Amino acid sequence: MSAAAGLDLTEETIFTWGAPPLKFGAGAVDEIGFEMAQYGARRVLILTDPRINELGIPARIADSLTAHGITSEIFDGVHVEPTDDSMDKAAGYAREQGPWDGFVAVGGGSSIDTAKAVNLLTTDEGTLMDYLNAPIGAGRAPKGQLKPLIAVPTTAGTGSESTAMCVLDVLSMRVKTGISHWRLRPTLAVIDPLVSLTLPPEVTASAGMDIVCHALESYTARWYTTFERKQPEQRVTYCGSNPVSDLWCEKALTLLAASFRTAFRDGSDLEARSSMMLAATFAGMGFGNSGVHIPHANAYPIAGMVKDYRPPGYPQQEPMVPHGMSVSLTAPEAFRFSFSSAPERHLHAAALLAPDAEKLNDPGEQLPAAVIDLMRDIDIPNGIGAVGYTEADIGDLVPGTMKQQRLLATCPRPVGEEDIAAIFAKSIQNW
Ligand SMILES: NC(=O)c1ccc[n+]([C@@H]2O[C@H](COP(=O)([O-])OP(=O)(O)OC[C@H]3O[C@@H](n4cnc5c(N)ncnc54)[C@H](O)[C@@H]3O)[C@@H](O)[C@H]2O)c1
Ligand SMILES: [Zn+2]
Repeated sequence: MSAAAGLDLTEETIFTWGAPPLKFGAGAVDEIGFEMAQYGARRVLILTDPRINELGIPARIADSLTAHGITSEIFDGVHVEPTDDSMDKAAGYAREQGPWDGFVAVGGGSSIDTAKAVNLLTTDEGTLMDYLNAPIGAGRAPKGQLKPLIAVPTTAGTGSESTAMCVLDVLSMRVKTGISHWRLRPTLAVIDPLVSLTLPPEVTASAGMDIVCHALESYTARWYTTFERKQPEQRVTYCGSNPVSDLWCEKALTLLAASFRTAFRDGSDLEARSSMMLAATFAGMGFGNSGVHIPHANAYPIAGMVKDYRPPGYPQQEPMVPHGMSVSLTAPEAFRFSFSSAPERHLHAAALLAPDAEKLNDPGEQLPAAVIDLMRDIDIPNGIGAVGYTEADIGDLVPGTMKQQRLLATCPRPVGEEDIAAIFAKSIQNW
């Protein structure tokens, strides 16, 4: 008898879950030299963006490396919300100045994602296009192990320090996509809440909404057993909601309920900042294995087709809708749409995110109301209309979402073009 005895082989029975080791707490950044030395590294590249470099955190990390006999250089050319072009430039620099024994990424998701790509492109052969998710790229898997990568998040948001993917804008196609493979996961995440004290309130708000949506989308994602059974080589990073991811998302929501508004209003509150950093990593350990769905799929065209919106608190050289903001703008309507697929999960998530909220007559409104209440308190723009989109743009936005089939596959309800168009239309103004 095979292992198939008693099992319906069209139904998935297996889920996978992974996360890097963590070093968490005030002062952790100064232990990076010790950690890198454990991998035997002698020469290391630190990747960051210009603003973080000015704050001096990369220089502190370089000092810690020097103290352990490791030489390093700082590359501060990371583009906020990386593009294929900016990642290629970073990889070109790393190739010219290499070889490197390891990498340290210090910054928000933009820096950590750029470092993941640079690690891949300088360790394995091939171009970005070879590795980008199909159908945009060839979806190739890295052949072997990558170099040690220590990720040091300075935002409380993406959870990229614990996920196995990197995201970028493919400029020529005006589409955002990514590379996902377990080998991209950082070797170690060093999370020091002290480095997040300088975050402007607008970045706290937008990056924090990314955490909220990671936790909520992961928690309401299709349950892993409802997918078709896969062979070992077909297993993907996102396997649907599962018992382990759920735990991390629930805890992230509880931390957010207690700390998000305080971190936004009083950026110097270390306890709130620490809880936000924990929440970001926890949500990353959830969604990074289970997946995200409609709000993230919609965020790609919302960010990719930006007209002239320039958010305060972010670099002003070019228009942008920051990732967390773009994700949150259609979230209330997306959760109205997904409610019927798993009412009890939506209600439980709402109770965790807004424990003191009153019970509404329409249970389908409980989670959208909790999300909207939070968005209003932290000054997130009121809908896609507030970042420059009108009814006339919906026809252009919808195909951008429909290209994100990898994300839509995790949606707990089948979702078509008309559904997405309706969600955009109702999200022009959220309150
Ligand atoms: N790989 C993943 O799992 C994953 C998940 C979600 C999002 N992302 C990607 O991450 C990117 C967004 O990352 P993000 O939201 O963390 O922000 P970010 O890295 O884009 O940084 C936003 C701004 O905040 C500044 N900043 C960062 N830390 C600061 C600090 N401590 N003090 C002062 N200023 C600071 C940066 O200089 C920048 O100007 C997007 O490209 C998004 O697609 C990746
Ligand atoms: Zn996100």
